[in-house]
Amino acid sequence: MRERLITLPKKVDKRGNLSFIEDYQQIPFSIARTYWIYDVPGGQKRGSHAFKNQEEVIFAISGSLDVVLYDGQEERRYHLNRSHIGLYVPNKMWRYLENFSTNTLCLIVSSMPYREDEYIRNLREFKKYIRTEHEEIVISNKKNEHINIIDPYPGHTTTVFDCNLIIKCHKCGETIGILIELRT
Ligand code: TYD
Repeated sequence: MRERLITLPKKVDKRGNLSFIEDYQQIPFSIARTYWIYDVPGGQKRGSHAFKNQEEVIFAISGSLDVVLYDGQEERRYHLNRSHIGLYVPNKMWRYLENFSTNTLCLIVSSMPYREDEYIRNLREFKKYIRTEHEEIVISNKKNEHINIIDPYPGHTTTVFDCNLIIKCHKCGETIGILIELRT
């Protein structure tokens, strides 16, 4: 799944504007945790990690900041500077926050409570984690039975003599190989 900007309702009023969020309405999940980052000294960077399962929406309630996302293939940068526009960040996405303006208040809502084992804090580990996810494949035999396995030899090639079993990528459905023999 990809990140996307979420525009919240904005009740414009001469007494001051008002925006709001609710589970499964403006926020595409149930909010389990809210935290905020503030008093960030100039030039500081936060984040530099990915979450295995949790999703988040990031807001610049006041001030501005850049959110930089990396999905294992490309890096994308979002500049947040409006109270009513948030960035939805799906799981399995490397992220860091930088370029905070003075007095920025960054509010983050998350789909899960805080758990240290949800974090991947090392970029190399993240790249490995993403690769392993993609290498999860499905073998379907002639009876159309499906068995989930992890490819023990990523990137290997196989000479094909018989086409009994087809190996497909679990995520994109693409055929990535043919298993010649399956002993049961
Ligand atoms: P962390 O998420 O590592 O911040 P950053 O990636 O921006 O450096 O959090 C910093 C510390 O705060 C870390 O010790 C964990 C703690 N923390 C909580 O206890 N609960 C929370 O909800 C969050 C976000 C952090």
